[in-house]
Amino acid sequence: MFETERDVLAWYESQPRALTKEFLDDFKWKEIDNYELNKAFIPVLIYMRDVESFTQVYYDELLRTPTGKDPVIRRFMDRWSEEENQHGELLNRFLLEAGVATTEKWEEEARQQIPIRYTMESRLTCWVTNLFGRHFTGTHMAWGAINEMTTLQGYRRLWKLAEHPILEELLRAVAQEEALHSRFYWSIAQLKLKDSNLSQRIARKVIDQFWAPVGTGTKPPKDVDYLIKTLFSGEEGVEHFDRTVNKRAEQLPGFDNFTTTTDRVKSILQSSLQELGESENAPVKV
Ligand SMILES: [Fe+2]
Ligand SMILES: [Fe+2]
Repeated sequence: MFETERDVLAWYESQPRALTKEFLDDFKWKEIDNYELNKAFIPVLIYMRDVESFTQVYYDELLRTPTGKDPVIRRFMDRWSEEENQHGELLNRFLLEAGVATTEKWEEEARQQIPIRYTMESRLTCWVTNLFGRHFTGTHMAWGAINEMTTLQGYRRLWKLAEHPILEELLRAVAQEEALHSRFYWSIAQLKLKDSNLSQRIARKVIDQFWAPVGTGTKPPKDVDYLIKTLFSGEEGVEHFDRTVNKRAEQLPGFDNFTTTTDRVKSILQSSLQELGESENAPVKV
């Protein structure tokens, strides 16, 4: 547990990157194709690649709020946004080496697909955020912690399920950086929330009401559902999510009896199951 936000930043900055130049130079890119990649995971990799690259959009949004003007957070965000962007590029390289055709302009194309509704909503959020001023920073940090933990666990589930050794090697390194991001967000959220009942109430209300898996809004709902269904299906998947994401968020000040993120994952899985059931039971047309 850290005492001050500066301590969190000092710890973060003392952590070396996992994706060093040496790691990437020695990486077995040419061996990727030696192993089979189950096609079911390709849309998941594309989703993750795109959402990593959208960090820049989120970063620009945050800069327009009091959170982005907080000197400790601002300093973290500069390194964080670069790392996320690189994660996107590495996932794209993996896809290319695995024989999945992606264009040179994938990033631009993915960004063009972001619905205008998202842009409008994010402007509105920005406006609301500014009304609450610095009391909203705890919400941003708690939300960010949940997103980083979800991303980290998403990568863990992906390498476990895909059983592709080179993908695992890449994702393990990416996940090390996600673990640092998670700890930074979580620790700052903890400090921001612990001294302010108002910040706690805002954070809890906003997250209970609006939380959805990372990427929601920028990606179509069917893609979000596919991702959750592929990575967290079954009792084991839900238990993994609950233990490694929801239960950790529950430890934040003001988050007692928090079940929102697990509930949301369960409801996505439930609705996918229903759809599946409906299509299986559908009368066969001849
Ligand atoms: Fe990332
Ligand atoms: Fe991250």
